[in-house]
Amino acid sequence: MTETVLISGANRGIGLALAKRFADGGFRVLAACRNPAAFANDNPHITPVGLDVTSAESVMELAAELQDETISILVNNAGVTDKESSLGDMNYDKWIEAFAVNAVAPFRVAEAFLPQLKKAKTPKIITVTSMMGSLLRSADGYHAYRTSKAAANKMMQLLALDLEKDGIIACPVHPGWVKTDMGGLRAEITPEDSADGLFTLITGLKQEDSGRFWQWNGEEHPW
Ligand SMILES: NC(=O)c1ccc[n+]([C@@H]2O[C@H](COP(=O)([O-])OP(=O)(O)OC[C@H]3O[C@@H](n4cnc5c(N)ncnc54)[C@H](OP(=O)(O)O)[C@@H]3O)[C@@H](O)[C@H]2O)c1
Repeated sequence: MTETVLISGANRGIGLALAKRFADGGFRVLAACRNPAAFANDNPHITPVGLDVTSAESVMELAAELQDETISILVNNAGVTDKESSLGDMNYDKWIEAFAVNAVAPFRVAEAFLPQLKKAKTPKIITVTSMMGSLLRSADGYHAYRTSKAAANKMMQLLALDLEKDGIIACPVHPGWVKTDMGGLRAEITPEDSADGLFTLITGLKQEDSGRFWQWNGEEHPW
């Protein structure tokens, strides 16, 4: 039977490349984005659906709309960054927004879609976090982004513990430094490279891999 993957922020960047890669890999893709009507799509395996991950109402509406679905994989990919976020240059509203999108929303979306995930044979919840949230790195700047991704990593570790009894695999992943609107032109890899590596990683994850921090190339990332 064809498996279904739900991907947030699937209209551009890494999310769009992931949607295409999962469709090429034989999955049915629910491509969640804020404006599904504007999602240019001629791929019969990709269905755009509406989701603003910071809106509780939007999350609940989509979960209700998709209540009869069986979802094998949820990829929390939607994310935001902000350059104005260091000592003396902190935009506090943007910091709160970064936490809302990058750390809180993946938990809310995961919780909302648990019924659909629990119907799958080997359900997986993946959140695209970042090496920039690793506590072992001492690079500076991007305080809002780094702290929100560190929180997302911890949240995914907790989710893995919460869901172990249900056989649901939960992992944070670093997608590489990727040439997108967020990653910029100087980034190291294309969205397609990242999506290809993430597809192989995600589809191969086993229960013993749950609660660990992975990178797009299949290597484990230090916390
Ligand atoms: N690029 C990199 O080098 C890199 C490295 C490490 C981690 N990451 C992570 O990878 C993920 C994807 O990044 P990207 O490089 O593809 O970024 P991007 O090109 O800026 O795309 C961000 C995506 O997130 C969506 N989004 C933002 N806020 C949202 C909300 N409230 N509800 C729904 N969707 C929302 C955007 O939708 P709209 O089009 O509606 O704004 C867009 O689809 C992010 O979590 C990012 O932090 C990226």
